[in-house]
Amino acid sequence: MKFVLLASLFAAVALESVSGQSPTTNNGEPTYVPQNNFPWKNKYPTPLSVPQIKPEWAKLVNNASVPQAPISTKGPDGALLPPPPGSKDTYCHWSFYQCLKPTDIATCQKGNWAVTYDDGPSPFSTKLYDYLKQNNIKATFFVIGGQVIQYPDLLKRLHDDGHEIGIHTWSHQLLTSQTNEQIIAELKWTELAIKEVIGLSPRFMRPPFGDMDDRVREVVKQLGFIPVIWNYDSFDWKIASGTIDAATVENTIKGWAGNASTATIGGISLEHDVSESGVDIAIKALPVLKGAYNMTLTSQCGNISHQAVYKENMEQENVAPSGGQVNGAGDALAYMKTSLTFGSIALLVTLLV
Ligand SMILES: *[C@@H]1O[C@H](CO)[C@@H](O)[C@H](O)[C@H]1NC(C)=O
Ligand SMILES: *[C@@H]1O[C@H](CO)[C@@H](O)[C@H](O)[C@H]1NC(C)=O
Ligand SMILES: *[C@@H]1O[C@H](CO)[C@@H](O)[C@H](O)[C@H]1NC(C)=O
Ligand SMILES: *[C@@H]1O[C@H](CO)[C@@H](O)[C@H](O)[C@H]1NC(C)=O
Ligand SMILES: [Zn+2]
Repeated sequence: MKFVLLASLFAAVALESVSGQSPTTNNGEPTYVPQNNFPWKNKYPTPLSVPQIKPEWAKLVNNASVPQAPISTKGPDGALLPPPPGSKDTYCHWSFYQCLKPTDIATCQKGNWAVTYDDGPSPFSTKLYDYLKQNNIKATFFVIGGQVIQYPDLLKRLHDDGHEIGIHTWSHQLLTSQTNEQIIAELKWTELAIKEVIGLSPRFMRPPFGDMDDRVREVVKQLGFIPVIWNYDSFDWKIASGTIDAATVENTIKGWAGNASTATIGGISLEHDVSESGVDIAIKALPVLKGAYNMTLTSQCGNISHQAVYKENMEQENVAPSGGQVNGAGDALAYMKTSLTFGSIALLVTLLV
């Protein structure tokens, strides 16, 4: 539990230091020039500010069926206060008890591994995107709304490169400390920004710090999202605070790979692409993981098709038979449906113009 509280604190610190950094340089090294001339239709909250709910979004959640778990309280350092000693885990709280529900995606099928990167997109990300592309590895990125509106071209690139995109909220709060309405605002603003850029609404969401209980789960579910946690934390987020060095993180990842032959389940790993060190480690880790596991996507770990990670493509949902093997024919069908959908849209546009 101490670890969770520390995790929250350091991740928050890391996020803050990144947001304060110049977008174009890192230690004098040019990284990336933002191309932010995106024609936004909506006006968004300031990046990382706590967003307000749009009135029409409140209706999307039926309060009566949301479990009335107490809203977590935070200490002066911003971390969650632990539950009183002897408390029972009534609401399947991940932060305190690592409790998961079968509907949470947190592991992958035996022999399979999905890499996930949080808190971007950021100017540091492009190096990782390049590496993934060169090596034909697909990943899942859980993005922050404010980062999306700052770097829409990076989000678009992620999508064009075939990665999966999930929601990581607008202001990176501990969600069990937020009201139902605040949770709705965090998720819906981020969904809206992503939809404006790539034309699709993610179904995957990752609660910041993994902080989730049955109340958060139900709000998430009613909004049409699926929570994604992880079963391997690289602790790369501790590098920025100086409490861990890059070599330790690298060894952690080598340890995962070293255990692959005895592991009874596969993995979903947690890393971050918002610092130079995070990205460098991610790149070093990939060949190690690739040597030990079948690199796959979160969609496979969650038994849904790659196309169906977006709400607009849900009819292509392709529940894998037991054993988790994705059905090849189903995939081909999903692909054909996608082509048809795009074809129809193109036709419609042609007719309208
Ligand atoms: C739902 O609950 C929130 C508190 O989390 C409250 O502010 C809101 O008014 C409630 N909405 C309805 C329709 O009861
Ligand atoms: C890997 O295996 C070693 C030795 O069996 C064990 O001590 C360690 O906890 C394992 N690590 C992971 C990440 O499973
Ligand atoms: C290995 O991963 C690929 C995706 O990269 C996936 O299509 C395939 O089903 C996976 N293999 C197994 C045995 O799960
Ligand atoms: C995916 O399917 C496997 C095998 O049937 C199952 O063990 C696992 O719980 C499923 N995962 C999810 C997130 O539904
Ligand atoms: Zn995060």
